[in-house]
Amino acid sequence: MQRPDRMSIYIYEFAWILPSIAIPVAMIVAIAISAFAMGINVQGVTGRIDPARVNETPPFDRPGLRQVGPNRYEAVIVAEIWRWVAATPDDKSRRVELTVPRGSEVTFIVTSRDVIHGLKIENTDVNMMIIPGQISRTTARFDIPGDYLFVCHEYCGTGHHFMYGVLHVE
Ligand code: CUA
Repeated sequence: MQRPDRMSIYIYEFAWILPSIAIPVAMIVAIAISAFAMGINVQGVTGRIDPARVNETPPFDRPGLRQVGPNRYEAVIVAEIWRWVAATPDDKSRRVELTVPRGSEVTFIVTSRDVIHGLKIENTDVNMMIIPGQISRTTARFDIPGDYLFVCHEYCGTGHHFMYGVLHVE
């Protein structure tokens, strides 16, 4: 059997070394572009709350949608098994519907009363873990009219699939 010469070994090694450097560099560049050019960020914890006292703790004592400025709204939402509460706490309806005019900027302020949930709003960047004892907050702008479905994306028990609602943009 003929042994490969030294030069061809260098070429083989180089063929492996090059992608092993190029792939991590490409991934770091992709992260930098998404963070700085596209503004995609991981949502942080913006506050702590006693999960046993959600009903009495502002702003969750009055969940719902309110206008806070021209074209600016705040949606205070409590997650619980198995619904999103955005009306009065004793409202027993399972499906939450919020309505905002087109061009609105909506800040979602969300916590959980019981277990870990997740809030995902279709066709937006809104995608948050909703953890008991933690306030999750994010803002999205709605320029295109339509119905935006929002769902719980973290399995939270047998009624998980009932946890959905709609944001109407008029
Ligand atoms: Cu709440 Cu799944």
